[in-house]
This record gives sequence, structure tokens and C-alpha cells, in this order.
Amino acid sequence: MNLNRRQTLLALGASAFSSAVRAGENQIVLRPGNVSASINGRNINMLGYNGSLPGPEIRIRQNDILTARLENTLDEGTILHWHGIRLPNAMDGVNVVTQDAIIPQDSFTYRFAVPDAGTFWYHAHYLSLEQVARGLFGPLIVEEPNPPDVDQDITVQLFDVLLDGSGNFDPEFYQADYATAGRIGNKMMAFSSSSLTRTGERLRIRIINPAVDRIFKIQIQGLSGMIVALDGMPLATPRIAGEMILAPGQRIDVIGDVEVDVNIWETTASNPILLTRLAVSGARAKRSVEVQALPANPLPRPGIPTTEFDLVMQGGAAGTSHGGYGTWALNDVSGLPRSPVLTARRGDTIALLLRNETAFPHGIHLHGHHFWETDSNGEPSVLRDTTLVAAGETREILCVLDNPGSWLIHCHMLSHQEDGMATWIHVR
Ligand code: C2O
Ligand code: CU
Repeated sequence: MNLNRRQTLLALGASAFSSAVRAGENQIVLRPGNVSASINGRNINMLGYNGSLPGPEIRIRQNDILTARLENTLDEGTILHWHGIRLPNAMDGVNVVTQDAIIPQDSFTYRFAVPDAGTFWYHAHYLSLEQVARGLFGPLIVEEPNPPDVDQDITVQLFDVLLDGSGNFDPEFYQADYATAGRIGNKMMAFSSSSLTRTGERLRIRIINPAVDRIFKIQIQGLSGMIVALDGMPLATPRIAGEMILAPGQRIDVIGDVEVDVNIWETTASNPILLTRLAVSGARAKRSVEVQALPANPLPRPGIPTTEFDLVMQGGAAGTSHGGYGTWALNDVSGLPRSPVLTARRGDTIALLLRNETAFPHGIHLHGHHFWETDSNGEPSVLRDTTLVAAGETREILCVLDNPGSWLIHCHMLSHQEDGMATWIHVR
């Protein structure tokens, strides 16, 4: 890809991208409702929290207690899920499994400690394909007790919207999309919490992919950056930030020093698309110290697996047949089975073989835990809460199931989840 070619700047932006709310001492309130968002140069009807799309950025310090009341001002049910947070099961925000949907005019208070510092996010988890596609998501930033030395700590949320012929949100959810790559928008965008920088500034850029189905492939130009965390979890050794892939739900933290205008490009197509820019205005002296690894979060190391378990992704266009009723299935069942697909004792390490027998990639997300991706020797490599498994690929992950309760495991392509690719495990 040639990044020097000038591309058309995407006109984007939400009408009311509100600034951060600090949680920890005070209860915060989130009210989902209609927002008019300016997308592609036009105001269109979307959803948001507290009048904002994306929802307000929640910031809290590691180990503090987050208290958030969801007041449902929609005319349908909704639920809040705190993606990637290792929280008590009852706070996980999953319909049927952990709570009933919060009906219109009703409210529910979520209250839990946040054990890990890093980049997380929250989103609707009821009618989630439609509610997230319409904008019900926002960042949840858990700050380290001693945050790294940076000039700006920026959140960039990648998103896409499917617009109809008149430029409005397309209310149709197409049957053909469910069986293929899902609902892929015809307008890509990025919501950035900052648009200005200086040369020499050290930036922390927290990239989140809340898009319902799109896998983003991005490149940051103008910054010599290092990847310091994946899905909120620090890398033991930071890696150079080259081309980065984010499945729906995934996050990448980059820290680096500004050289020129910082451009974030989507590079899947041969003509890259500019998602957002931080324009340089002024300069400061560059730091002489290199970017350091962030302190590890307090997660247990995997032991010898007590169980090896195959989780098989099936169905979709050109995929394998299965016994489930929906387009997609896990282990022959579409949607949540009556009993858990796997039961573990608290503390057990499980080797999960994720087998993708379909013709499409899937981003598999486990609730309430992080897990280790493994390298070619089967050794733990990086911690994630969502892992992208390519068509036909088998990937082994190691999970220390130390959080008691019933936890969803599903494809975070929300069209696939909606049409069957979801199941649950139980930790007792
Ligand atoms: Cu981010 Cu079950 O979801
Ligand atoms: Cu999928």
C-alpha cells in the first residue's frame, strides 16, 4: 500500500461526541435514546447514550468500583455489557443468562470493581446486532495507578454504518448478510477523542472496534508507535505497530511519538481510506526514553489443562452442515443450549480448540475471562478476550476459568451471534 497517495478524507463525526465521565466516586447514569448524528455530511437518526454517539467515555482507576445505572428510555428492552471486564457474573449484562432485559422506563444498577487496567468498552447486549449497529456503545477506560508518561491519551473507535439510498440508516437487516460476512456498512468512520497534536508528542492511542461485523485492518502513519496492549492486556514486550487487524470487539493500545500529521488508514482495499487525522500544530521536544511495557494485570498463569475441548464453528454460506436450526452453529447447536457446552471447576485451565469449519472468519469472544492465544509450540503467547479465527483455521486457546458463573462464548460478528453462533459455559 502506498500511504503517500492523498485519499479523500471521510467526512464524519457525531453530532454530540461527549467528553469523559469520571466514575469511581460517583454513580454514573447511562440513558440510551435517539440521537441525531451527523454522518457523511447529513444528520441521521441513530441511537446513543446520554444523547451521544458513541456513548460517553467512562474513565475509572484500576480496582475502583464502577457504579452505573442504566435508565431505559428506549421503547424496547436493553441491557449493558462491559466487554472484557472480569466482573461478577450477575453484572455481566447478558439476557437470559445473567439478567432479564431491562424493559422500557425501567432501570438497573451495575456495580463492580475493575481488576484490570486497560482499554475496554461497553455496549448493548440485547437485540445487540441492531442496537450496536445503531450506536449503543462507548469506551470504558481503566487507568493504571501510575499511567505511562504521555502527552495525550486518545480513544479511537472504529465503526461503520450501512446507509440506504437516501443516506439514512438502513433499517433492513438482509438475510444474505447473516450467512456471509455479516452487516458490512458502506460508510466507515472513526470517532477520535482528539484531532490535534504536536510533533514530538507522545500519544497513547486506544483503538477499539465496536463495529458489528467489520474486521478493520489499519495503519497509523506519522507516528513511530509500539503496540503495548491487546484487548486491554499489556504485552510483556511491546511490538512495532505496523498493519493492525481488529476483529469486532477487539482493542489495540499504541504508544508512540508524533513525527508528522498522524493519519489512521483503513488498508483492506487497495485504495486506503483515511479514517481520522490528528493534525500537527506546534512542536515539543521528543522524549529520549523509549516506550516501556505497561505493568501486567493480575491474571492467573495457565496450569496444565485439565480438559481439552473442541468448539466447532459451523454453517454459513459454503460452510459445513450442522444440526442447529439457524444459519450458524457451535457444536451442532444454534443459539444457547439448555445446558452449558462445557462445565469447569473454578481455577481449571481448559485448552479450547477453536475449529473454524466455515468459509468465513469469526471473532470468538469469551465473557468474564481473558484467555491466552498460543504460539506454534502450544505455549501461551498473548492474552485476549476476543480472538480472530480465519476460515478453515484451528486455534488453541488456554483459559484459566477462575470466575464462577455462566458465561457466554460467541462470535462477536453480531450478525453471526444473532443467527446462532453463541453458546455458554459454566464455572462452578
Ligand atoms: Cu462484546 Cu457478548 O459481547
Ligand atoms: Cu462469526
